Amino acid sequence: MKEQLQSIADEALSMLEKVQDMKSLEEIRVTFLGKKGKLTAILKGMGALSKEERPIVGQMANDVRKRLEEAIQNAKTKLIKKERAEKISREVIDVTMPGTFIPRGKKHPLTLVLDEIKEVFLGMGYEIAEGPEVELDYYNFEALNTPKNHPARDAQDTFYINENVVLRTQTSPVQVRVMEKKKPPIKIICPGRVYRSDQVDATHSPIFHQVEGLVVDKGITMGDLIGTLQVFARSLFGEDTKIRLRPHHFPFTEPSAEVDVSCWECGGKGCRICKNEGWIEILGAGMVHPYVLEVCDIDPAVYSGFAFGLGVERTAMARFNINDLRLLFENDIRFLKQF
Ligand code: PHE
Repeated sequence: MKEQLQSIADEALSMLEKVQDMKSLEEIRVTFLGKKGKLTAILKGMGALSKEERPIVGQMANDVRKRLEEAIQNAKTKLIKKERAEKISREVIDVTMPGTFIPRGKKHPLTLVLDEIKEVFLGMGYEIAEGPEVELDYYNFEALNTPKNHPARDAQDTFYINENVVLRTQTSPVQVRVMEKKKPPIKIICPGRVYRSDQVDATHSPIFHQVEGLVVDKGITMGDLIGTLQVFARSLFGEDTKIRLRPHHFPFTEPSAEVDVSCWECGGKGCRICKNEGWIEILGAGMVHPYVLEVCDIDPAVYSGFAFGLGVERTAMARFNINDLRLLFENDIRFLKQF
């Protein structure tokens, strides 16, 4: 039995010397010191020994157990140190390595122009209003003095959800929504997306953006409209910019005009950018039609107002010298990078 104990001790110690990981260490512990382990088996078999031998073997078995326990503890400490060292060397950070490049985003040219437009009008004391893109026929047409079968509906064919609901063709319905809720003085702009069933080409898209403007108060005149648009044109296109009004027709303004800005490239002489016109059209405008005021319960004998509708794509194209509207929607990074 003494020899058995000695060989158990030798075997265990040599295994412990070679152990490489925690799992095998635990296995060794169970093999020798566990409930069904080799040393335990010896202790259980001691009943068969003589009275004289028992304490000697018992003493020896206890010594072996102690030595093994110590050796296991030592192996454990070594393994923990080893694992920690490995972990640290694995996780070492080389601060001299170049970082991951995170490209910086930019605002889309439409957003840039819209921000500029908002800035100008907020500076003049306008508030920003909003309205739905899916709009009632009533607001998009009827209340704007454009009854069913009116020829002006032709140029603004759109997508019908049903007979009474359309994708709005203009931001002008917001005029009515605002005037229904709020009484003069009113001074708002409304930027938003609009829809028309147009074929895509260099100057048309079934989805585009407008900024509506509306001012209603006592004594508002065409002079106020012209002055406002002049300030706007100069801030966006430069101090020397002139504006020009051409008579036009919109059912909801009277009188109505289409408004051009002088070409910033040639100053009005005529060039490639303005197609030799000297002028570039960017918006429609006019004095709010008395019919529209009445529909909104505002007395046209007391109040008057002006309104305008500005094409955001057109303005961006003019502002950044872009010759094809499709570029604004394709989101080609090579194009967008330039702004
Ligand atoms: N809503 C008109 C259009 O889309 C523009 C406009 C707005 C004209 C306000 C006059 C007044 O063509």
